[in-house]
Amino acid sequence: MADIKTDVLIIGTGPAGSAAAALLATHGLEPLVINRYRWLANTPRAHITNQRTMEVLRDLGRDVEDEAYMFAAEQDLMGENVFCTSLTGEEIGRMKSWGNHPLSRAEHLLSSPSRMNDLPQTYMEPLLFKTACSRGAQPRMSTEYKSHVQDADGVTTTCVDKLTGRELTIHSKFLIGADGGNSKVAEHAGLRFEGKMGVAGSMNILFEADLSRYVAHRPSVLYWVLQPGADVGGIGMGLVRMVRPWNEWLIVWGYDINQPAPQVDDAFATKVVRELVGVDDIEPKIKSVSTWTVNNMYATTISNGRVFCMGDATHRHPPSNGLGSNTSIQDAFNLSWKLAMVLKGQAGPELLDSYQAERAPVAKQIVTRANKSIEEFGPIFKALGLLDSVDPVKMQQNMDARCNDTAESEAQRAAIRTAIANKVYEFDAHGVEMNHRYASNAVVKEGQPEPAFERDPELHFQPTTWPGARLPHAWLFGADGKKVSSLDLTGHGVFTVLTGIGGDGWIAAAKTLSKELGLPIATHRIGPRQTWQDLNGDWARAREIRDSGVLLVRPDHHVAWRADAVTADPEAELRRVLKTILSL
Ligand code: FDA
Repeated sequence: MADIKTDVLIIGTGPAGSAAAALLATHGLEPLVINRYRWLANTPRAHITNQRTMEVLRDLGRDVEDEAYMFAAEQDLMGENVFCTSLTGEEIGRMKSWGNHPLSRAEHLLSSPSRMNDLPQTYMEPLLFKTACSRGAQPRMSTEYKSHVQDADGVTTTCVDKLTGRELTIHSKFLIGADGGNSKVAEHAGLRFEGKMGVAGSMNILFEADLSRYVAHRPSVLYWVLQPGADVGGIGMGLVRMVRPWNEWLIVWGYDINQPAPQVDDAFATKVVRELVGVDDIEPKIKSVSTWTVNNMYATTISNGRVFCMGDATHRHPPSNGLGSNTSIQDAFNLSWKLAMVLKGQAGPELLDSYQAERAPVAKQIVTRANKSIEEFGPIFKALGLLDSVDPVKMQQNMDARCNDTAESEAQRAAIRTAIANKVYEFDAHGVEMNHRYASNAVVKEGQPEPAFERDPELHFQPTTWPGARLPHAWLFGADGKKVSSLDLTGHGVFTVLTGIGGDGWIAAAKTLSKELGLPIATHRIGPRQTWQDLNGDWARAREIRDSGVLLVRPDHHVAWRADAVTADPEAELRRVLKTILSL
């Protein structure tokens, strides 16, 4: 078989690989994307889809964003996070989550044009993959990555065609390892990791059963069931997760990591379903059972030369906070425009160094947060008295004690409320999802000090145009009544210059430099009688510059550089900044 040549070879069609393929294809490239299986994810896996990820889909096109909403369970159905003894049993507590608390909903609405939703991986992957293939990516399924070597000119990758058993060689200028938590690409590229794999064992039981009567009055993605003594760990916490409201579900149940992964048959799975639902004779249709391990590991180097890894290949963590697929797609958003510009000759290869500088800290942050969120169940168990004994009868008595008319019981009730409320760090951590502020050679800060966070940065998103931060969202209005987000004016693979009245110098400079550097640059003037009007004044409040100032925004919506007001020589300023960022 003749060798294959491509600019970018992507290993994996998960959320990271499919997103990278979709974005690169949208930027006019024809990446080759392979998967060792014949099709995409066959179980729902990741599902919580946050606003920042939806902004990536929106950048791919309103059709892509709208299709995601069409298949998703909407935000209103996500948020009553229930703690109970079974779905038919006693409810211990609830907390509004995923932007469903009225105050949090306001923050969501103010932060982004896009909405959080619940989109199982079995819907997200086909959407991204279809977008990739229909726009020019070359898919090759049943093709397994085996090894790679790189030199100054490119990467030579050896794969096996699983239909014929034959080896094939693929030459690419760049290789993306989006091959998941057991990434061979990361291993062969010699990436460095910190942390530990396999810190706990879990099993997923996917089943169908109409549970509407137990849940529809308290709609949620997650129902946490506490049954003391019901499992190896003693505490007996299981998770009943909505896949499709309200007839498809996934139960997550623990197993002892010190023992081999259990062989779970339909009878055992049915028993677990009956216990957690609390109905002895329910007949669930068991669709699949699988085991997986909780990991606590992140890469400290996420690229090596011409090889870039992303997604679970570089961050391996439990599903807490729902960050897995989201971060994977956002990794792809960060890298794809840089690769496209380097391959088109619009930027020097040093631009690619910024991927490591910008995304490795995110990998560490989310792995740390997701594992901390597991620990933060501890105070709930403690407050319920589940840590004071391993005897299930005593544990139940401790839980029951919260109903007594004593000072201790009143203190216990307060402790339970506090512990449940603290789970906001897992179930409504808007800041973790949105507050990414980059520092790298692809951002020109010029000594401008970072604005301090006024509230907890894990919980609350704080918009700023400080270089490196994501552009704030504000609604703007066109002459024909069209309403767009400030984010809509940017992205789509190109740099954007945003200015206002008095900023003509920036627009002229962008046009000149666009020709000079062979680099498309979008330009927008915002203000009265301009193409986009800031009728609410929200943009003026968010932009942190004067009318004649400028924001230079990168294709991934992050602010590359800003100037407070027009300067004596805007063209020289913009040329200097663009050349720095693009390593020209
Ligand atoms: P992902 O693992 O999705 O994709 C890797 C891709 O690489 C696949 O297409 C695979 O076939 C391919 N591949 C691997 N090796 C290859 C090779 N040698 N050659 C060719 N192709 C190769 N997250 C969450 O937020 N909530 C959840 O409930 C769950 N639940 C869950 C359950 C199970 C069983 C798993 C395995 C994972 C989860 N996750 C999860 C994690 C979530 O699914 C994960 O974060 C994302 O899928 C990561 O996307 P990636 O694209 O990085 O990897």
